[in-house]
Amino acid sequence: MRADRTFGGVNLEVMKVFVTQPVPEPSTSDLLSGFEVVVGRPDAWPEEGRRHLPDSDALVPTPRERVTEELLELAPRLKVVANCAVGTDNVDLEACRRRGIVVTNTPGVLTEATADLTWLLILAVARRFREGDALIRSGTWDGWKPMELMGASLGGKTLGVFGPGRIGTAVARRAEAFGMRVVVCDAADGLGAFERLLAESDVLTIHAPLTPETRGRFGAAELGRMRRGAILVNTARGPIVDEEALAAALASGHLGGAGLDVYEEEPAVHPGLLPLPNVVLLPHLGSATRETRLAMARTACAEAARVLCGEEPRHRVA
Ligand code: GLV
Repeated sequence: MRADRTFGGVNLEVMKVFVTQPVPEPSTSDLLSGFEVVVGRPDAWPEEGRRHLPDSDALVPTPRERVTEELLELAPRLKVVANCAVGTDNVDLEACRRRGIVVTNTPGVLTEATADLTWLLILAVARRFREGDALIRSGTWDGWKPMELMGASLGGKTLGVFGPGRIGTAVARRAEAFGMRVVVCDAADGLGAFERLLAESDVLTIHAPLTPETRGRFGAAELGRMRRGAILVNTARGPIVDEEALAAALASGHLGGAGLDVYEEEPAVHPGLLPLPNVVLLPHLGSATRETRLAMARTACAEAARVLCGEEPRHRVA
């Protein structure tokens, strides 16, 4: 239903917002109440995009939907892509720039949730959570043993942070509570800093955005230069790590374990990772607390509304 309303002198009557998947409410229901809002289905992209983009003024996608140039070509009215995520690698930013389409993201609101989940993975891998849980469920545990499922202590070890932005910094802050030393390396730092990160980290955690510079940054050679027995954690974007090379480094025993929340070809996971007991795999849950996902949805809807009302958005990336 089209709204019959004006806001700040702007006629909202003909403005349509396509939200690619259901998001926590209240978000669309109050922040986009003056617009026509269409909510898609999780498994229906890009078909629903092709159907709705031709008359949409705003698009609210999630990391699951790739907003390609081919789809943008179908969207002559589109003014804003308000991504419901902090990462914007799912959106062709250059194509948006060329068309004058504003792109926004949701920084800040998911920092702490993602840092918490990163530590969940670090601890789960270091303390062999999966194997312990499986032992109990197997019904074969017969009691305390001095050398059963010994993991790695974290105190006194080195945490390497690749990408010390908001989330990387929040992860590093938590390291103090575990008595870890921290080394950081920005994706733009020189080779020296990157090599030091590889060589010194007992636990290396990735928090850089996916860009042409970070894609494939952790390949077989780089993983080979990490410490024997080190743990790799990735809660940023899957394609930063070569999954096949990671599976090989884990299977050979060179790396001690891995905790992954993101994958090269989501939702697919490299089959070589699945049987390994020292790998903890989560389905892209970094920001998945009720509070955080609601805050992300509200941020994205508010950004879409701002742009449609002719205001400057708060989190513009293009
Ligand atoms: C989730 O992956 C995000 O980028 O917010």
